[in-house]
Amino acid sequence: MFNLILFGPPGSGKGTQSEKIIAKYGLKHLSTGDLLRTEISNQTPLGLEAKSLMDKGQLVPDEVVTGMISSALDANPGAKGFLFDGFPRTSAQAEALDKLLALKKTSIAVMLALDVSQEELVKRLLKRGETSGRSDDTNENVITARIIEYHNKTAPVAEYYKKYNKVVTVKGEGTVNDIFNVLSHEIEQRTQPKEAGIEK
Ligand code: AP5
Repeated sequence: MFNLILFGPPGSGKGTQSEKIIAKYGLKHLSTGDLLRTEISNQTPLGLEAKSLMDKGQLVPDEVVTGMISSALDANPGAKGFLFDGFPRTSAQAEALDKLLALKKTSIAVMLALDVSQEELVKRLLKRGETSGRSDDTNENVITARIIEYHNKTAPVAEYYKKYNKVVTVKGEGTVNDIFNVLSHEIEQRTQPKEAGIEK
């Protein structure tokens, strides 16, 4: 199995690049933001609780997202590997993920971290907010709150994986295809296609 974390602040391009990576390498995409938005659109109790936090740009409790990821791992026993997008976002989530993967006798191969300036992040998210219907994109104060939450709680997750020499930082500004080529190169440095079951 080949498991990777696509990491970076809100608007750094995690979702955009995830789509291309899963199409090329056949990984299962697990985005906690997407899973939470599905809960919201289904108006579940979990979704209603999450919405009030997401609308303020705050993180949802660790046990909620860890539970969703645990269920998603169990629901995909035949996956060649997982691409985690927007998870883990706290050190507690990182520790929980490592334990869940160890139970399945696998681990994180690499964290690819997208580096984008704050000015560019705000510009991208406000632009997307014009059409996306995402309530957390329309208000610059909420976007700033998401970025502050990232610096306070999520950036330390990279330090956690640096201890294991698993972090590669990639410039996340430029064309989507150029960034994808750099990410692909980093993935291919770490996979032996036949053994990992990854299709190039
Ligand atoms: P989540 O859905 O994960 O959102 P996010 O991290 O804020 O990230 P975004 O989806 O906004 O950005 P992205 O990096 O995926 O960039 P994208 O490709 O979309 O989380 C939302 C909320 O859910 C959180 O605030 C929290 O409340 C909760 N949550 C989720 N996971 C959680 C967890 N694990 N724990 C606790 N709470 C959790 O691109 C952004 C825009 O830029 C797009 O319009 C795109 O077209 C554009 N773009 C992309 N690449 C480029 C480029 N190279 N050049 C120009 N534009 C580009």
